[in-house]
Amino acid sequence: MGGMADEADKDVFDQMAYRRALGGFGTGVALVAADDAQGRSHGMIVNSLTSVSLDPPIVLWCLALSSAAFPLFTDCTAFSVNILRAGEEDLVKAFSRKGDRILLPDQICRMETGAPVLSAAVASLDCRMRRRQLEGDHEVIFGDVVAYRAEHGVDALGFFRGQFVTLKTGA
Ligand SMILES: Cc1cc2nc3c(=O)[nH]c(=O)nc-3n(C[C@H](O)[C@H](O)[C@H](O)COP(=O)(O)O)c2cc1C
Repeated sequence: MGGMADEADKDVFDQMAYRRALGGFGTGVALVAADDAQGRSHGMIVNSLTSVSLDPPIVLWCLALSSAAFPLFTDCTAFSVNILRAGEEDLVKAFSRKGDRILLPDQICRMETGAPVLSAAVASLDCRMRRRQLEGDHEVIFGDVVAYRAEHGVDALGFFRGQFVTLKTGA
């Protein structure tokens, strides 16, 4: 049995149980990337990616207000979203830990916006910041996809019930 998520129930709302419930929604895993004012490229792992609109192409992802990367991703005018390949657990570890998460020049390329794009990804979306919206403890970041690239026939990394899994390609 689950709990109620309304205000009156706030004291007894079990965050862990709620997270576990949401864990049943399997997702891919993405690395979002942007440059800081000094031109260093930063990355961060997210699984909150959603395609909002196809025409025009708009995506969103959600950034925790508590994240040290909050100023970077809210100030940037362009960012990329990179859908990770299967077997990239080391990359996930490096780009979800605390502290600087710097992408090296040999890991990235540039497309239209100039934002850093991960060279080895199942797909990469090169985005211009569209708008941001504060919702609860996250900022929702909307991006206009101005360019993209995709590799077909490559297995993707998945995240399901707190575990990394391989999403097998049918092709
Ligand atoms: C599978 C996975 C998905 C994640 N998804 C998100 C997300 O959608 N939004 C977010 O803000 N952080 C997400 N995180 C957490 C960040 O990757 C990172 O661990 C966190 O921001 C670290 O705190 P810091 O930014 O203060 O250094 C996710 C982490 C993992 C491992």
